[in-house]
Amino acid sequence: MVTGQETGDVALLDESIKRSSNTRQRVFSGIQPSGNFHLGNYLGAIRNWVDQQAAFDNIFCIVNLHALSQATTRETLRDNTLNLANVLLAAGLDPSQSIIFVQSDVREHAELCWLLSSVTQFGELRRMTQFKDKAGSKDEQVSAALLFYPVLQAADILLYDTNLVPVGEDQKQHIELTRDIAARFNMRYGETFVLPQPDIKATGARVMSLEDPTKKMSKSDANPNASIALTDDPDTIRRKIRRAVTDSGSDVVAAPDKPALTNLLTIYSLLSEEPISIIEARYAGKGYGAFKSDLADVVVSSLSSIQARLAELNQHPEIARSVLVDGAERARARAVAKMIQVRDSMGLGLY
Ligand code: TYM
Repeated sequence: MVTGQETGDVALLDESIKRSSNTRQRVFSGIQPSGNFHLGNYLGAIRNWVDQQAAFDNIFCIVNLHALSQATTRETLRDNTLNLANVLLAAGLDPSQSIIFVQSDVREHAELCWLLSSVTQFGELRRMTQFKDKAGSKDEQVSAALLFYPVLQAADILLYDTNLVPVGEDQKQHIELTRDIAARFNMRYGETFVLPQPDIKATGARVMSLEDPTKKMSKSDANPNASIALTDDPDTIRRKIRRAVTDSGSDVVAAPDKPALTNLLTIYSLLSEEPISIIEARYAGKGYGAFKSDLADVVVSSLSSIQARLAELNQHPEIARSVLVDGAERARARAVAKMIQVRDSMGLGLY
């Protein structure tokens, strides 16, 4: 039998759960389903999403419309999308704590992208570092989608009243542009959008290439030895770390004039959860060989549990599919409500 006191307690508890979920900060982030996901994606983004998910109201998006900015095929995009959903689940994203969905399943992203383009300057887009890097000297031939890419990203973020955007360092400029777009829209049409903050960690936000520590580890790097894919087998991981470039000298220390060792020590430290100073002390006088061999063990063992879960999920694609269907429904409900407000702010629709 439930007493009056107990019902009162339950009501109070319900109220406090409601309050805490209302006051929990909204997190949104996205990742492109393009190619092999690597340690940079994991340490700069995915792992932080997983570690923080209990504290926030989270939405994570597989941005397949962004992936269309580079030439792809129907089969590749479909395979990469499902594979990425499996990677996110294997890494620990929990659908009971986070909405996980595919961008094209919520049409409001594309609609808001167009509306926001009216408050975005062409010059702002042309000056984006990522556009300049990807377009290179061929900016007459690249798709217009590559130029428009940050407007769609702003739409992703602003559609959900996002407070925090956990990303790697390379996305900082896009989040800043998103804030500028939101502020300009609010000035012109009245308070409509929340201004989001980037959430970029002090370490791991820029994991560097194993072949050239002045370049970031990147999915688009033509050299497979430059990055460690989350799906690399132990032998491949050991080989890539053994041949990773090092700095002159033989001391295992992180320092501005030792970018390669700094990168390797950062990877070791993040995966082993030990401070860099402890690792430096452990390898004092032991040289690069011993350090690299242990680093390979740390990477192999850190990725092994993700890889085991990934192998199971690959056998059961229906699990990821059902997570994505459910995620799209939950994201859509929020996006539809927001777009009613946005259309009204802009004077679209007379009914
Ligand atoms: P994408 O798919 O290139 O990368 C996904 C995430 O991985 C981070 N990252 C890295 N972090 C550390 N070191 C590296 N070497 C490294 N390489 C990649 C990225 O910073 C990112 O956090 N434009 C985005 C996707 C996007 C998005 C969004 C992100 C679309 N809409 C809305 C946040 C919010 C991109 O292409 O990420």
